Amino acid sequence: MAHELPPLPYDYSALEPFIDAQTMKLHHDGHHAAYVKNLNTALEKHPKLQSQGAEELLRDLNSVPEDVRTAVRNNAGGHVNHTMFWKIMKPKGGGDPHGPIADAIKKVFGNFNDFKTKFNDAGAKQFGSGWVWVAGKSGGELQIITTPNQDNPLAQGLFPVFGNDVWEHAYYLKYNNRRPEYLAAWWNLVNWEEINRRYETFKSGKLEPALAAH
Ligand SMILES: [Fe+2]
Repeated sequence: MAHELPPLPYDYSALEPFIDAQTMKLHHDGHHAAYVKNLNTALEKHPKLQSQGAEELLRDLNSVPEDVRTAVRNNAGGHVNHTMFWKIMKPKGGGDPHGPIADAIKKVFGNFNDFKTKFNDAGAKQFGSGWVWVAGKSGGELQIITTPNQDNPLAQGLFPVFGNDVWEHAYYLKYNNRRPEYLAAWWNLVNWEEINRRYETFKSGKLEPALAAH
């Protein structure tokens, strides 16, 4: 079964004014679609891998044959990252976190504002393209990390609770080179219900969110 591009859970314009419709269309129909297509192409050479979920592939890249390992790393990464990204945003999102993720943020980072500052700062400092994440060893403590390119925390044995895309393609049409402004505005879109669902999976000790199986 081939990997498939999940539909956006809302209209292209739904995240205006924080993310513009043109960026969403390009990002989903262009970039994300290409990751899925390139992943399927890479796996054609190794049909045995076609039954594995994209997250499972990322958790054990060493067992992916060398001739397609980089392609799988980048494209399964791009697919898994973006599948999460669309879901952890929503129109009229944002506000203060609630539920178990709010307690975890308070416990680890003191308060939401300090946490946001640290997260945004890490995202602003990520050199070139990449992601800023809240991740951790399953069932363990949360930390803020960054990854280059489309690398996902799963490849380091960490569970990605949520993250923000700091590739230029995620913000350039609206914010140009002002990545910190995009990082600050992004919190207006955050879907805390979905993040709480992911956090509960993390807390239960599962190794992956299992959202981008195919
Ligand atoms: Fe992206």
